[in-house]
Amino acid sequence: MTDSPAIETRELTRRFGSRTALQSLALCVPQGCIYGFLGPNGAGKTTTIRLLLGLLRPHQGSIFLYGEPFTWERRDLLRDVGALVETPSLYPHLTGRENLDLTRRILGLPIARVAESLELTGLCADAGRVVRTYSLGMRQRLGLALAWLGKPRLLILDEPANGLDPAGTREWRALLRQLAKEHQVTVFLSSHLLSEVEHVADHIGVINRGQLVFQGEIGNLRGCQPPLIVRVDRPHEAAHLLRAGGWRVVEDSNHALSVQAASETDAALVNRALVMGGIHVCELCRQEDTLEDLFLRLVAQADAGGAI
Ligand SMILES: Nc1ncnc2c1ncn2[C@@H]1O[C@H](COP(=O)(O)OP(=O)(O)OP(=O)(O)O)[C@@H](O)[C@H]1O
Ligand SMILES: [Mg+2]
Repeated sequence: MTDSPAIETRELTRRFGSRTALQSLALCVPQGCIYGFLGPNGAGKTTTIRLLLGLLRPHQGSIFLYGEPFTWERRDLLRDVGALVETPSLYPHLTGRENLDLTRRILGLPIARVAESLELTGLCADAGRVVRTYSLGMRQRLGLALAWLGKPRLLILDEPANGLDPAGTREWRALLRQLAKEHQVTVFLSSHLLSEVEHVADHIGVINRGQLVFQGEIGNLRGCQPPLIVRVDRPHEAAHLLRAGGWRVVEDSNHALSVQAASETDAALVNRALVMGGIHVCELCRQEDTLEDLFLRLVAQADAGGAI
């Protein structure tokens, strides 16, 4: 079981009335990774997380945590899971430390866990303040401290950086990286913001309308290269020439061509074909695609029924 994924789902399906919120979801979250679970609003992220935490029952399909089938009868598997779903439920009139201590006592954990969680989340200096006076970022960090109390092997976080400013988001990323690196925790992190997971996740799953449209290492997602941008003196002629050579070309309004050319060799071949055809190549570059662009492409392909 040691190599089993931290999370695996098969055919996971959940409906709300006649609406299918999740359709045959097949997640595979390798151990020790930071997995970014991305999708637009209403895609099914929270529903997935609620199913993973046993807060909802699936209509079909199964969930495995570290290779063990997770069912209502096997809720004990959740002892190894820490979770933060949307905003944490905190007692505003109690201090940060008191909030942690209350949960620690309910879970029957050693008292030292409170200080460790405060330290990890950088809340030591504010632990004596009542939570009512906490900023959003501090509340989220306290939520993480609560999830971290039992030293779980798996952390499931639903939009933890929602509403944080850029500095707060950066802090979160650093915190998650530290957790994954120093404590070998698997982090399953949902977000609708690509920028939030782009720099922290090593694996990624993209969900749209309840269906997975991409899953794999983040490098593979970037592997589908953006087109080559070619600036030439006579774009129309150049496009004609390249098309005759079998290249897929789109002419844009700025006298540039966008050419589907996957590899570096393809780029060299495009250049040679143009030069041999008497076209002056002024610029040839590959526009760096953001994950946002990729995401929109994946979602558009999935909406059009295309396979990924
Ligand atoms: N309790 C519920 N009753 C009815 N419909 C629900 C319920 N929970 C979720 N849904 C529906 O299921 C779909 C998926 O919702 P979900 O909350 O999982 O999306 P999400 O990806 O978390 O979105 P967001 O980014 O807005 O948090 C939506 O169409 C939503 O309206
Ligand atoms: Mg949600």
